[in-house]
Amino acid sequence: MKQKINVGMIGLGTVGNGVLRILRDNAQPIRSRLGVPIEITKIAVRDLKRDRGLRLASGVLTDNPTEIIEDPNIDIVVELIGGYQPAKELILASIGRGKHVVTANKALLAVHGEEIHEAARRASVTIGFEGSVGGGIPVIKALKEALAANRILSIYGIINGTSNYILSKMTDEERSFADVLAEAQRAGYAEADPTFDVGGIDTAHKLAILVNLAFGAHVRLDNIFTEGITSISPLDIDFGKELGYKLKLLAIAKWHDGQVEARVHSTMIPDEYPIAKVSGVYNAIQIVGDACGDIMLYGRGAGSMPTGSAVVADIMDISRHILMEPSRNLNTNPAGASAVKLVPMDSVTSIYYFRFMALDQPGVLAQISGILGRQQISIAQMIQRGRKQGGSVPLVIMTHTALERDIQKALVEIKALACITEQPVLIRVEGDEP
Ligand code: NDP
Ligand code: HSE
Repeated sequence: MKQKINVGMIGLGTVGNGVLRILRDNAQPIRSRLGVPIEITKIAVRDLKRDRGLRLASGVLTDNPTEIIEDPNIDIVVELIGGYQPAKELILASIGRGKHVVTANKALLAVHGEEIHEAARRASVTIGFEGSVGGGIPVIKALKEALAANRILSIYGIINGTSNYILSKMTDEERSFADVLAEAQRAGYAEADPTFDVGGIDTAHKLAILVNLAFGAHVRLDNIFTEGITSISPLDIDFGKELGYKLKLLAIAKWHDGQVEARVHSTMIPDEYPIAKVSGVYNAIQIVGDACGDIMLYGRGAGSMPTGSAVVADIMDISRHILMEPSRNLNTNPAGASAVKLVPMDSVTSIYYFRFMALDQPGVLAQISGILGRQQISIAQMIQRGRKQGGSVPLVIMTHTALERDIQKALVEIKALACITEQPVLIRVEGDEP
């Protein structure tokens, strides 16, 4: 029986610090739950000279990750550097040395997950990736274990804390996009490259991981329709409020008899839906299973301690199996999963919110509604504001459920009208027919 579990950590930034703190502050309950202590025996960083305000035993810090990978006493390698390279090579090298790996690197798993999981399967080691989606929310474990008996029918996720924080502050405090983004970066929520957060790419990375687990199929990232929040204007947030909707960056996945619909975009959600009430840096994932029905997981989706909590839970999970049965691996990532057939975006149906800026003159509404009508798009609600002689006014239209292909055709025709003065805004809406 092993007397302790030795862990090597590559990366000591936001999440790495959380992992160290949890292992230090909660050493006693962790030890009593596991039966043995967990010790971080080596940590690799880029810059050895940086003052980290931490007291670490001498010899623990290195700037050479290979020291960790080649250390025969290390049982688990924790990768917390982020990005594609050298993270991928370091993980594959660790697997090659028979080490179990824990990572929170959603970008890497979304793009190279298939190769990494396959290598782990062949080497009979485990990849723990709870921290990769939803920070401290145990959504990976829920899909792998607690919901394993279900066919998953749909997933709706607010899974990027930075975007949710920005949209919430823009909605509640009427602050500008740039101002709130800077605050999220200072708080350590945003990715090193915040375009991943606000462009919807981080959400798409996480959705790819969830689709893989929920539907047992690999989805190529570039097949996930992805739009971010950069073009969201306070005007549309206000019109949404007036119509009874909250604006959220939503990851959506639905099962359609062997085909999967997977998309990421700003979405209007009815105010009374629980997921519409998720605000700030909080994340939520609503999952519908055919047996369990609706469930919603809610919590802190980013940050040092919540993500550290998920990483340490993975370390403990793997440790339990090392202690009980050294040869066993915990991989539940579907073996030999094939590429899933994705529903093409133009076949998706939704309710749509349009905002047109149009000259306030006779016949404008007739022209726009005529085009919508010819494309079989039915109008559910309409708001027209203000009257500026000779100027542009906002014209907001909420449709009934329509086909994306028809919406895009109508949009091309409407944009070409002489009375349209700005690029129209289109936001997809989830919920019941208005
Ligand atoms: P940080 O940028 O805060 O930290 C990165 C760490 O990696 C730093 O300690 C850096 O060293 C080290 N590093 C970078 N390159 C190398 C290298 N080549 N060799 C050794 N060390 C290296 O990242 P985070 O902690 O925020 O994120 C880590 C991972 O967790 C990412 O994949 C991220 O997407 C994911 N994640 C982050 C969340 C968050 O809230 N921040 C939430 C969920 C997931 P040095 O300190 O010397 O610069
Ligand atoms: N940048 C990410 C977010 C971190 O804002 O949600 C957590 O994955």
